[in-house]
Amino acid sequence: MGFLDKLFGRSPKTEEENMSNLKIGIILGSVRQGRNAEAVTDWMFDFAVKRNDNADYEIVDLADYKLPLLGETLPEAEQKEAEAAIQAWSEKMASFDGYIFVAPEYNHAVGGALKNALDYLKPEVANKAAGLVGYGSLGGARAHENLRLIFGELQVADVQTAVTFSLMTDFVNMSEFKPADYHAANANGMLDQVITWSAAFKALRKEPVTA
Ligand SMILES: Cc1cc2nc3c(=O)[nH]c(=O)nc-3n(C[C@H](O)[C@H](O)[C@H](O)COP(=O)(O)O)c2cc1C
Repeated sequence: MGFLDKLFGRSPKTEEENMSNLKIGIILGSVRQGRNAEAVTDWMFDFAVKRNDNADYEIVDLADYKLPLLGETLPEAEQKEAEAAIQAWSEKMASFDGYIFVAPEYNHAVGGALKNALDYLKPEVANKAAGLVGYGSLGGARAHENLRLIFGELQVADVQTAVTFSLMTDFVNMSEFKPADYHAANANGMLDQVITWSAAFKALRKEPVTA
């Protein structure tokens, strides 16, 4: 048993626990018809899987969850379906150890669909890490800064390195995704940080250290 385990009275982890892969959700954060988010998310997924991290990556498409606007009154006939969607979204997000958010920028902020989806969550995502991927005239940087504020309240640990694609130079006609090679450096940096923090937070969630 290591020194910290003795100090905090933790039992050593089983070999199975040490070996278990991290679960990382890649959140496709736009529901817009004709969205660029799909190509960017697919690129991010392929890039992440090729690294052979001790992690299982899964794409979570916001469009697969027909989430109502938080708190809106729905016709009775639609209520059951909406409740099921909210439940499924909550359970899916709770199942991950960390996240990569592929976030469009609308009006210098995060898009409404992603903001609404995040408003349903808190314990599901707290004490977990997140990396940011964006695209826009300034790489989606303003949406990222907006998300970092939101993550502060949700107790999500957003990592420093972000991947920021330009609509002008990483897309043809702002719609065909052709990313420049140099983005690989930031994608690797972001993933390194998400993996490290996700593993650390996973241990923390299991064995919370109390003062
Ligand atoms: C309502 C709206 C507002 C937008 N505002 C911005 C903006 O402030 N900054 C920016 O860089 N791009 C802006 N854009 C361009 C989007 O970033 C671009 O359309 C992107 O492809 C949107 O993501 P999506 O295709 O995955 O939905 C805006 C697009 C829309 C539809």
